Amino acid sequence: GAAELGPYRHYMQKEIFEQPRAIADTLEGVKGITPELFGKGATAVFKDVRQVLILACGTSYYAGSTAKYWLESIAGIPTSVEIASEYRYRDSVPDPKTLVVTISQSGETADTIAALKHARSLGMEHTLTICNVATSAMVRECRFSFLTHAGVEIGVASTKAFTTQLVGLFLLTLALAQVRGRLTAEQEDAQLRNLRHLPAAVQAVLALEPQVIAWSEDFAAKENALFLGRGLHYPVALEGALKLKEISYIHAEAYPAGELKHGPLALVTAAMPVVTVAPNDQLLEKLKSNMQEVRARGGELFVFADADTRIESAPGTHVIRMPEHYGALSPILHVVPLQLLAYHTACARGTDVDKPRNLAKSVTVE
Ligand code: G6P
Repeated sequence: GAAELGPYRHYMQKEIFEQPRAIADTLEGVKGITPELFGKGATAVFKDVRQVLILACGTSYYAGSTAKYWLESIAGIPTSVEIASEYRYRDSVPDPKTLVVTISQSGETADTIAALKHARSLGMEHTLTICNVATSAMVRECRFSFLTHAGVEIGVASTKAFTTQLVGLFLLTLALAQVRGRLTAEQEDAQLRNLRHLPAAVQAVLALEPQVIAWSEDFAAKENALFLGRGLHYPVALEGALKLKEISYIHAEAYPAGELKHGPLALVTAAMPVVTVAPNDQLLEKLKSNMQEVRARGGELFVFADADTRIESAPGTHVIRMPEHYGALSPILHVVPLQLLAYHTACARGTDVDKPRNLAKSVTVE
């Protein structure tokens, strides 16, 4: 009821603002990095596996897509990410030394559970879930689990579940890196410090809300939007586009910025806002040239730029300045203003934000 909403207009907004608390709760009890965070006996299994297969749907799939970058670069373990409803119905090549990881807020998504059972039927017994509901079917079905402590998520568009899943997946990456001899004690300490500082870092990003509200008035009048990101932030762009289409009904799609020339550049006109995720990482110069390509075609850029990128506002280029680059955990910061942009754009259009048409919170039937 209204009382539980406190100062917020919708559950989605409340849940976006709960993220610092949700992340802190998810990290509570994590004293150090060890596979045993995922259950008894995980150390032996983590030592034995030679690849990771992630299965999920919707926003949880984008969390998995982000984790692939971490798992390959930090833990050095080959990783594939599959949409559950695709994986379960296709012929694939199973390897018993695979860690099968399902990601699910509800733990009840029918396709994800079926994909897990399909993987097991192919002889893959090492199963692990990152899940927000301790009593769910997914937790019961998987040998290992890590519970996110997002708390109950009511808005159909997932927000705090996503960022806490990323925290769980980052811990999984560090645990796999550790058993593979790729994490020194110093690196472990540094990564834990970065994780523990996340609630404060996310809080700082939430303070950008008034600037995002100012942009949302522009967005509310659009019918299309393009989201660009590269590398680790390409899945963030995908998640930003998903949020916008789900709740504002504006057609949005995300592209890896390097693919612009292979299609989406044909759509770029002054009527097409181009939202750009611009962290100060090793791909920044490449991204800046993609931004030039958009400007050269009269496209209007809306850029979320790390403070240390030196990307400046100019005619046709709007910039919201994020904190300084946050390294590997940067996706957790960059997704937050995209959630806020979708939320405020939907509010400006007057849609039913918490219950978008045709969508359900938990898809327990096919
Ligand atoms: C539905 C929800 C999404 C969610 C997806 C997967 O589509 O609307 O917010 O990401 O299901 O749900 P799960 O509970 O498995 O994460």
